[in-house]
Amino acid sequence: MKALIAGNWKMNLNLNEAIELVEKLKNSCSNARDDILICPSFVYLQKVGELIKDSNILLGAQNMYFEKKGAFTGEVSAQMLVDMGVKYVICGHSERRNIFNENDEIVYKKVFSALQNDLIPILCVGENLTERENNVYLEKVRNQIEYIFKKINFENNSESAGRIVIAYEPIWAIGTGKNALPKDAFLMHKTIRATLQEIVGSVFANSIRIIYGGSVNPENIDDLMNVSQIDGVLVGGASLSFESFNRIINYKVTQC
Ligand code: PGA
Repeated sequence: MKALIAGNWKMNLNLNEAIELVEKLKNSCSNARDDILICPSFVYLQKVGELIKDSNILLGAQNMYFEKKGAFTGEVSAQMLVDMGVKYVICGHSERRNIFNENDEIVYKKVFSALQNDLIPILCVGENLTERENNVYLEKVRNQIEYIFKKINFENNSESAGRIVIAYEPIWAIGTGKNALPKDAFLMHKTIRATLQEIVGSVFANSIRIIYGGSVNPENIDDLMNVSQIDGVLVGGASLSFESFNRIINYKVTQC
């Protein structure tokens, strides 16, 4: 399957910086072998969307609200994102879960609403440092996946399960410079795949991209992308500069 290389800009870059970065990426990505995605802040979606219109860079949002419309001050619906040309939306990033108190139920509603509006949700899961140290990290992530996938009734619509992207992002690795070792990421991705197979069956589970996030940078990208279960990366800090994101996009493949 085609890998997904996604940049999550978070609340970074001003308008001029965003434009400059996009212009450079547009040129360098014209022959990209993978799906390249950038997720600017809501307020720059329209501008960035216009700039990448004739390129093969995809537009993503960092968040959304699950209701269709109404009195939800400050929120943005799935349909509003679609209107801006957005194709992907990050759901349940650990910063949303931890700083803005999003729980599994809220994340489930967002994933569900995204699917209903033909957006591709990037569902973020991952354990914190205590959970890792207490050796409950596999269970934690399995529970996060099960909560969402069991609630979404895929019975009549199983192919929508295959559209979801899962981002495994160990919280202790986000913005810390510490990334999961390739062998640890491999184990987690394998566990996630097995969990998905139990819930939606092998065919759809095997078409779900499981990407890794957490301090991905030009130094570790080659090792990570050569792990067989890693179908792409979600990059924060290192997606903010052209040089580093471009190097990540052009990772070196050493095994098939
Ligand atoms: P980081 O962030 O690459 O800066 O660690 C990743 C993320 O939060 O998606």
